[in-house]
Amino acid sequence: MSTNSKNVIVAPSILAANFLKLEEELELLNQEKNLWLHLDIMDGHFVPNLTFGAPVVFAMKQIFKGFTDAHLMVTNPQFHLDWLQTLGVDHVTFHWETVQHHDRLIADIKKRFGSVGVVLNPSTPLEAIPLYLLGKIDVLLLMTVNPGFAGQKFIEGVRSKIQQANKLREANHFQFQIQIDGGVTTENAGDLKRDGADILVVGSALFQSKRPYSQVIEQIQNA
Ligand code: DX5
Ligand code: ZN
Repeated sequence: MSTNSKNVIVAPSILAANFLKLEEELELLNQEKNLWLHLDIMDGHFVPNLTFGAPVVFAMKQIFKGFTDAHLMVTNPQFHLDWLQTLGVDHVTFHWETVQHHDRLIADIKKRFGSVGVVLNPSTPLEAIPLYLLGKIDVLLLMTVNPGFAGQKFIEGVRSKIQQANKLREANHFQFQIQIDGGVTTENAGDLKRDGADILVVGSALFQSKRPYSQVIEQIQNA
C-alpha cells in the first residue's frame, strides 16, 4: 500500500475534547469529511485512568454521524464487544498485550464489526504479532505514548517501528492500515505519513488548538 500519494485519515480523540460542550464539539466534527471519531475506552486496570462507557458512547452516537473507532484499553476486551456492537460502533481495536487467545478475538471482532484492529504499546515489538495474523487484521495501531492520557509527549523511538511495519506490509502484500496514536501534531504529521501512517489519532493538538478545527484537520490530512 503506497501512502505518499493519498491523504491520511484524521481520527479526533474525543477524550481531549471539552466534555461540558460535547454536543457542540461533535457537531463541529460532523462538518468534516473523511474522519474517524476515536473513542478511548479505559477501565482503570490496563491503564491508570477511566474514561467513558456505554451511556456516553450512546449519547455521542446520537450526535456524531460519521465513522466511530473504539480503542479498548481494558484488561478484558471481550467483555465490551456486546455493548459496542449494540450501539453500532464501526471499528474496534484491542491491545495485543491484554489477550491470550488472539486468533479467537480477532475472528470474533471481525465477525461482529466487519473489521478488526490490533494495538501495540510503544515497548511491544512488532515481532509480537505473528505474520499470519498480520495478514488477518485491518488496522495496526501503534501507540506513540504509553496509553492512559491525552496530552503526552510523542515517543520518537516508535518511528522506526512504524517504518518497519510499513516495509513488512509492502513485502508481504498485507492490507492493514497503519494508525498512530499519541502526541500527533501538525508538526510531526508529515513525517508520520512518510513513515507509512494512514490514520492519525489527534487529541490535544486538535481540541486545545486556538485555530478552527477544520483548519487543523485539513493541515493534518494534507500533511
Ligand atoms: C491515549 C489515548 C489517545 C489520546 C491521544 O491513551 O489512546 O487516543 O487521547 O491524545 P493526544 O493526541 O493528546 O496524545
Ligand atoms: Zn487512543
